[in-house]
Amino acid sequence: MQEQLKALEDQALSTISSAHSLDDLERLRVRFLGKKGELSAILGGMGRLSAAERPVIGAVANTVKAKIEEHLQQQRLDLEEKAIQEQLASERVDVTMPGRYLPQGRIHPLQYTMDQITDLFIGLGYTQVGGPHAETNYYNFEALNFPPDHPAQDMHDTLYLEDGRLLRTHTSPVQIRYMETHEPPLRIVVPGRVYRKDALDATHSPVFHQVEILVVGEDITFGDLKGTLSLFIEQLLGKRPMRFRPSYFPFTEPSMEVDIWWETAVGKGRWMEVLGAGMVHPNVFKSAGYDPEKVQGFAAGMGVERLAMLTYNIDDIRLLYTSDKRFLEQFPG
Ligand code: PHE
Repeated sequence: MQEQLKALEDQALSTISSAHSLDDLERLRVRFLGKKGELSAILGGMGRLSAAERPVIGAVANTVKAKIEEHLQQQRLDLEEKAIQEQLASERVDVTMPGRYLPQGRIHPLQYTMDQITDLFIGLGYTQVGGPHAETNYYNFEALNFPPDHPAQDMHDTLYLEDGRLLRTHTSPVQIRYMETHEPPLRIVVPGRVYRKDALDATHSPVFHQVEILVVGEDITFGDLKGTLSLFIEQLLGKRPMRFRPSYFPFTEPSMEVDIWWETAVGKGRWMEVLGAGMVHPNVFKSAGYDPEKVQGFAAGMGVERLAMLTYNIDDIRLLYTSDKRFLEQFPG
């Protein structure tokens, strides 16, 4: 019996050594040590032994059992360790490998300039609002004190839609829409796209962008307007030569335009008009249902393309629309 046990031990140890998986191991444990396993089968013959032999065989059997168990445990640890090593090897990351280039989008310089202008006014306590691009003649002209069929409307080469509406020629109609639905005092900033029947050249485009501001309250003065615009220009472009020039708009009185000196080359340059502005005309307040005896206000409309051209020293407006990556990649955004 002792030999049988020894033979069992040898066989168990070598079979266990060649087990390939934890499942295999479990099957071997049942086969050798299970209740109906091979060790039990041998020990079933103990009854035939003498009283003197029994403890001897019992001790041998215990040693064999312990050895098999220990070997099973060792093999289990080895297999587990091997599995971890395999996993580590298969999931290995080469941290020295160069990265893959993923093309990254950025904000267009035009949008960036418009965001900057808008943010500046939001910082001054203005509320951002918008309005429809397809407008009625009423909001785009009439309510803004353009007399019907008056040649003043020729200032804006208007694109008309088939249904009688038009594409807004400026962001000023939003002044009326906002005042109709809100009480003074108010401060709004209106970034948006506008449309005119202009041919595309170095400084004109049929579609362009404006940022409108409107401030209404009591005791708002022309000085407030000049101060606001000076601050705005300085914040956006830094200190630059600028001039306020008297002008005319039906919806403001007095009116002015602001020009900024644009240095095209050393010692060369010209004035570039970047915005129109003025004190809100009493008739505009009347259109909106405000009493012009009680409130005053100022308004301004900035040309975003031109401010972007000045910011980035771009000499042709068309560069802003052609989506040439070689051009666009030169900007922060
Ligand atoms: N709406 C005018 C334009 O497009 C600009 C402007 C806005 C002028 C507000 C005065 C006040 O030219």
